Amino acid sequence: MNDIYYDPFDFEIDANPYPVWKRMRDDAPLYRNEKYDFWALTRFADVKAALHDWRTYSSARGSVLEVIKSGVEIPRGNILFEDPPAHDLHRGLLARVFSPRRMAAIEPEARAYCARSLDPLVGKGGFDFIADLGSQMPMRVIGMLLGIPEQDQEAIRDQIDAGMNLDAGEMPDAEGQRARHGRGAGSFGVDAYADYIAWRRENPADDLITELINARFVDESGVERNLADDELIAYIGLLSAAGNETTTRLIGWLGYLLDKYPEQRQLLVENPQLVASAVEEALRFEAPSPVQARYVMQDVEHYGTRVPEGSVMLLINGAASRDEREYADADRFDIRREANHLSLGYGIHFCLGNALARIEGRVALEEVLKRWPEWQVDHNNAKMARTSTVRGWESLPAFI
Ligand code: HEM
Repeated sequence: MNDIYYDPFDFEIDANPYPVWKRMRDDAPLYRNEKYDFWALTRFADVKAALHDWRTYSSARGSVLEVIKSGVEIPRGNILFEDPPAHDLHRGLLARVFSPRRMAAIEPEARAYCARSLDPLVGKGGFDFIADLGSQMPMRVIGMLLGIPEQDQEAIRDQIDAGMNLDAGEMPDAEGQRARHGRGAGSFGVDAYADYIAWRRENPADDLITELINARFVDESGVERNLADDELIAYIGLLSAAGNETTTRLIGWLGYLLDKYPEQRQLLVENPQLVASAVEEALRFEAPSPVQARYVMQDVEHYGTRVPEGSVMLLINGAASRDEREYADADRFDIRREANHLSLGYGIHFCLGNALARIEGRVALEEVLKRWPEWQVDHNNAKMARTSTVRGWESLPAFI
């Protein structure tokens, strides 16, 4: 019917997927990829409805194409990879410890972490949005939340990054799957997390892990108990990955977009109260996590074609966020837009860290603008990260 080609492993497509996503929305709103055997939805209304419909579109076998295809066993407690009732139970426990008290405490800490990274760079002529800020502050914030000692934080982040990188533009094999977007146990290694939990049991502190270790709850079979080690390990793996990589990419996109659209940056300098809506627009415009995969639980029909039970469906929220059917002038970056988007997900898996991600994005941008109201991206030395789950910059140096 047409010659549209899309897959999430092709680096060239990933560099600028918007033209092909537009063609998919217009000419193949239900897209079929024979090579990797998946289907995809790209229109806003379709993606939103499917994200909501967890009974048809299940996460229980993973929410990454290659994870579902590999059939790896999913550790319990990784809520991204669960359906109700286990999902709701585990999410409820985690939501309990993402308390308003903890979230309120984060902003000044996040600001202090930014200052620690950025102050030594003032007067140096440039800095890297990723190396100096995006890969630092989110890691310290999540480390603080989890209570992970500072000296271990970088090792955890680096191993997660390494676990996510694609080697070539091909679908990775099953072995490489466990760590992707923290959607496995996390590549820091189950042993290291187990040691950490054992140590925390002996050394309780005012942190999320201590709270989770002590939490009592009634499980799916009606038994009241504490979380088991494997569930705690899945939580730590999920949070250290989900809380790091995505926010790192958001900060990179803020640096990139505000350089590309300097009149928008000027607007921000003149109207600092627009920072929060600039973060929202950056999320819409360049979704850091643009593709969510689902396992199709029952035959379903879209645009007159039957998608059989057992298929994999990609819900491309990154394409939905540029849908002209939903947004006026969708390809225009406009920090005053105040539009909804699907970049933090939708439905039962809506990003649990959304408040945190928004605080971190806003604080990072405020702290950069406070020091440098203008910068120029060094495009010759900027580099995109190569992953099939998180899209954005691996390094983004800028001249000031
Ligand atoms: C800009 C930053 C972020 C983006 C773009 C983002 C994006 C997303 C998306 C799209 C989902 C839904 C996935 C799906 O439907 O399968 C999600 C879920 C989730 N996110 Fe985030 N996220 C961000 C930051 C964070 C942070 C900072 C944390 C935690 C500290 C976090 C924790 C989670 C968790 C635990 C889930 C799973 C929720 C569930 O399955 O019920 N995220 N995120």
